[in-house]
Amino acid sequence: MSQPAVKYTGPPRVFSGMQPTGDLHLGNYLGALKKFVDLQHSHECVYCIVDLHAVTVWQDPKILAAQTRNIAAAYLAAGVDPDKAIIYPQSAVRGHTELAWFFNCVARIGWLSRMTQFKEKSGKNSENMSVGLYDYPVLQAADILLFKATHVPVGEDQKQHLELSRDIAQKFNNDFEVPGFFPLPEPLIKGPGARIMSLRDGTKKMSKSDPSVNSRINLTDNADAIAKKIRKAKTDAGVIPESLKELDDRPELANLVGIYGAFAEISKQQVLDKYAGKGFGVFKPALAELAVEILHPITERMNDYLKNPDETDRVLAKGAQAANQIAEPILAEIRDVMGFWKLKP
Ligand code: TYM
Repeated sequence: MSQPAVKYTGPPRVFSGMQPTGDLHLGNYLGALKKFVDLQHSHECVYCIVDLHAVTVWQDPKILAAQTRNIAAAYLAAGVDPDKAIIYPQSAVRGHTELAWFFNCVARIGWLSRMTQFKEKSGKNSENMSVGLYDYPVLQAADILLFKATHVPVGEDQKQHLELSRDIAQKFNNDFEVPGFFPLPEPLIKGPGARIMSLRDGTKKMSKSDPSVNSRINLTDNADAIAKKIRKAKTDAGVIPESLKELDDRPELANLVGIYGAFAEISKQQVLDKYAGKGFGVFKPALAELAVEILHPITERMNDYLKNPDETDRVLAKGAQAANQIAEPILAEIRDVMGFWKLKP
């Protein structure tokens, strides 16, 4: 899509979300959650637990609310401060579903049919998937633009969905002749944590749905489990090389170097500079130590929050109220732009 003729001039705002479908893993943490924490110091931030996205595949109603609370506990344990950032469950802000419908009438079927994540998730079974799963990226655009968010911290797997959000924002601005009404949200994807791969196969993304528990480190893993999974991580027989080029055909090592870099907040090259010539007998224990040092306190704090659900619920209730306060006037403005009937004051 072409660049907007008129730029959005509203205030910068960060928005992101995670699905309440099982435990968060290292990919979720390094790809997104760690950035959530960093950004709250410099930006107004809105962090959602996207339960409406979760139900695009079957979720047991008996555990959905508890799963939502678990993700909120993970946000808090990782360091998202509810006095600085808004944390709330998506379903508590009705504007998400309303704006998703408006955007359903803006987005084109051709745009959705290009979405690779739907193809991956549905495989050969696409006819039996929910309509919601197909429409998922439109709801994601609504999430972001309901807050006129300008920046979206996510892992690399969300890049295509962010491009769709920009296309929808741009088409809305054009179709309704409101140049600069919606910002074109920018994905914040950079850094070695943006694409964390499976510990068992360096060519596959670390994912909640991988049947092998050794493929991922969960935020609920204790120190022993973290160390064991890193010790067992697939590697080759070589030593740590000097140059990044030499990582090209060693995907498992490239992944571990990236994880080290993301934890230590240094580049992959700086990790190589530190360990070049050393074997995995040196590198893996050092990585395990670093991982435990950073993840263990998060796990401990998370367990505390899980033991005290009332505190998490209070954060979610306050967050929902604050999120609604931002979203409602924006939604009213969108309804005006689209020309819906309203009672004269
Ligand atoms: P979800 O719940 O699958 O993942 C949450 C976040 O974790 C990132 N992530 C990874 N990053 C690096 N390496 C990995 N292996 C890895 N696996 C997951 C994801 O990129 C994501 O940032 N559609 C989104 C949720 C969503 C959303 C939004 C995000 C709904 N609406 C609006 C941003 C803005 C999703 O399913 O994330």
